[in-house]
Amino acid sequence: MIPTATGFPSSKTKDGALYLDNAATSWPKPPGVAQAMAQFLAEVGANPGRSGHRLSIEAARIVYSAREAVANLFGAPDPLRVVFGLNITDGINLALHGLLRAGDHVVTTGMEHNAVMRPLRDLAQQGIEFTQAVCEADGTLDPHRIEEAIQPNTRLIALNHASNVCGAILPIRAVGQIARRRELLFLVDTAQTGGALPLHMENDCIDLLAFTGHKSLYGPMGTGGLILSERINPADLHPLRQGGTGSRSEREVQPDFLPDRFESGTPNAVGLAGLLAALEWLQEQGLETIRTHEKALCADLLDGLINTPGVIVLGPQDAARQTATVAFNIRGMEPSTVGLRLDEEFNILCRVGLHCAPSAHRTLGTFPDGCVRFGLGAFNTAEDIQQAVEAVRQLAKEAP
Ligand code: ALA
Repeated sequence: MIPTATGFPSSKTKDGALYLDNAATSWPKPPGVAQAMAQFLAEVGANPGRSGHRLSIEAARIVYSAREAVANLFGAPDPLRVVFGLNITDGINLALHGLLRAGDHVVTTGMEHNAVMRPLRDLAQQGIEFTQAVCEADGTLDPHRIEEAIQPNTRLIALNHASNVCGAILPIRAVGQIARRRELLFLVDTAQTGGALPLHMENDCIDLLAFTGHKSLYGPMGTGGLILSERINPADLHPLRQGGTGSRSEREVQPDFLPDRFESGTPNAVGLAGLLAALEWLQEQGLETIRTHEKALCADLLDGLINTPGVIVLGPQDAARQTATVAFNIRGMEPSTVGLRLDEEFNILCRVGLHCAPSAHRTLGTFPDGCVRFGLGAFNTAEDIQQAVEAVRQLAKEAP
């Protein structure tokens, strides 16, 4: 990581490549993240919530502070309702596998990631039905489509807040209000928006909020989980894993209280120390400041690509209606070829293909070949955008 004149780390790798893969994992991280992780390993290191000695208590304090910071960011009712797990996929699996029973029906959308679709396809083998509400060809969703898909046995509405492919933002508050009115539970996959867009569990009527630390929260991989609203009774959610929690050790049945019911085994305390530092940085910067910066970069990128002959831009093509993730194709050139040439000839790192979201690509009309995706982050600059547009322009000139 190279510090710049602004004191911010650079979006260039040590060999000078431009990192545009923030929709997969944000990089670089704020400097305090690596420091906090190294400090945890060097000076704390003990198992949180297990042994009663001072280092174990210090480790537990750091984990609890991370829980509080996550609860504050998302408007959670209580830090103890923040359940830490491996990542957001783990959180979504806990919500879907833990909650749903044979005979239940779920409404989801045509823009989902496999983190939602694969558990739903698996649950379909166990008598749980689902309907995918149709999205527009630019990845956006009319909330009426959700209402139309509700059946008498619908129990849950589950959708992502923004597409990981093209950045299209879905109207979660309107959908949340439908869920409340129809007395359904509402699960939101915030992988692409946690830390990037404002989110509030109560105001957005969210009952189950799945989050990840390694994208727009700017924390490390291996952090994330699920937050439960007060409308979720922990007894109604079956834990994915059982085991040691450091609590009620005399009993061989899983504790029924939060968060222990869902957090068995030693947690990723090193990662959570990093996540805490990341959330403190995010709060110092202000989510609005980062959003304004990313929106301006996204608008410039969209403008540059839309005005490049031979380039087809996907998604809303409007920085206000999408995250700072831009999907495109070059007519006559395979996305995989574009990705390889960007990497090898233009020193630009991005993600191409289907992005673990075949449903979304079907909606966008880009299945099975997929597309090229530039995922911008807080540390990208206007110069980065110029470099990216220029590279695509040169490739597009060569396309047949
Ligand atoms: N889901 C992540 C992505 O979209 C990894 O790339």
